[in-house]
Amino acid sequence: MRKIRTAVVGLNMGLQHAYAYDKAERADLRWVVDLDENRAAQVAEELGCGYATDWTKIVDDVDAVSICTPHHLHAPQSLQAIAAGKHVLLEKPIANTLEDCWKIIHAAEDKGVTFMMAYIVRFLPAVQRLKEAIDREEFGRAFNANCWIEGYMPPAPGSWFSRKEQLGGGVLFSHGCHYIDLLIWLLGNTVNVASLGTQLGTEWMEGEGTAHSVMKFESGALGYLETSWGMKYAYRPDLLHVHTKDALLMLDASVSKLDVMDASGRRTLIAPVEGETAGFNTQGEIEHFLDCIETGRTPDTDGYAAMKSHQAIWAMYEEQNRVQNYPGNSSLGSEVSGG
Ligand SMILES: NC(=O)c1ccc[n+]([C@@H]2O[C@H](COP(=O)([O-])OP(=O)(O)OC[C@H]3O[C@@H](n4cnc5c(N)ncnc54)[C@H](O)[C@@H]3O)[C@@H](O)[C@H]2O)c1
Repeated sequence: MRKIRTAVVGLNMGLQHAYAYDKAERADLRWVVDLDENRAAQVAEELGCGYATDWTKIVDDVDAVSICTPHHLHAPQSLQAIAAGKHVLLEKPIANTLEDCWKIIHAAEDKGVTFMMAYIVRFLPAVQRLKEAIDREEFGRAFNANCWIEGYMPPAPGSWFSRKEQLGGGVLFSHGCHYIDLLIWLLGNTVNVASLGTQLGTEWMEGEGTAHSVMKFESGALGYLETSWGMKYAYRPDLLHVHTKDALLMLDASVSKLDVMDASGRRTLIAPVEGETAGFNTQGEIEHFLDCIETGRTPDTDGYAAMKSHQAIWAMYEEQNRVQNYPGNSSLGSEVSGG
């Protein structure tokens, strides 16, 4: 069977896609593309493929393309790749507006190509084990989840990362979307969401650099997500805790190990075996994309699945704007003192 010819556009996060295609037996990584020619040439030499600075010049030579560029480029580039009949694996988020997201999703449907969102977290073995435990109610029904995404990410001056219009919002939209998606995937559709955000501590951001968000799911379960790009010092032993009727499930900070604590104590349900790469490994995600192209199967992280997280976040942003009009306790002044 002919290998699936692939290209990667944008070689920062895209580098991980390129490594995974290079490793995947059924893929033929033909091109790596970046506006920075030196970077593209360096990666091409390392992986033994061609390189280019203009992806439109090489797109005819491939079956599938990974788009790993700044968010404001996702819509024009995806639409162009889909129009050329290429399967697309797109880094998150889909696009910066609701209209552009649906345009991409519908264009892929009309053209009959595979369109998948690179929601990498879902494809990590420890996360899949967690999903299995929750779905099977191995430790009783899940009713609460707390997730902490803490980091320090001041971008280069003038970077697209700090511009609200290019990023599509703040940290919640850009980074938080992975974990809003994860919470929805684990706990079900949302019925209610709310959020507060601030620029304090991340003054380089036009949007919020820290956000606290809460969600209520159809089952009645609650979820909490803290996201920040301003935490120079963070002590975060775990990334996610899920409380069930009989236990606490703990996904560690490297997203590689899942522990459970219950009446019989604490034990590990899954951890990387020797020689296995821990953490954010794109191999599972890339293999799923190739599988969907080969079989015609709908990706687990197709546009519709990804839209759930996007729409939840846009509703959270509406909520952030609404609560900004709350006068706050200080407006009550001395009337509350001594109460
Ligand atoms: N899944 C994850 O964990 C994760 C982590 C980081 C970033 N991302 C996503 O990856 C995407 C890229 O983010 P990043 O951090 O790598 O950004 P970045 O700005 O660090 O890198 C983007 C790269 O794309 C190149 N580029 C820009 N326009 C291009 C064009 N028209 N043609 C070819 N190359 C072009 C730039 O030269 C740069 O090398 C975003 O969607 C981001 O949200 C995902």
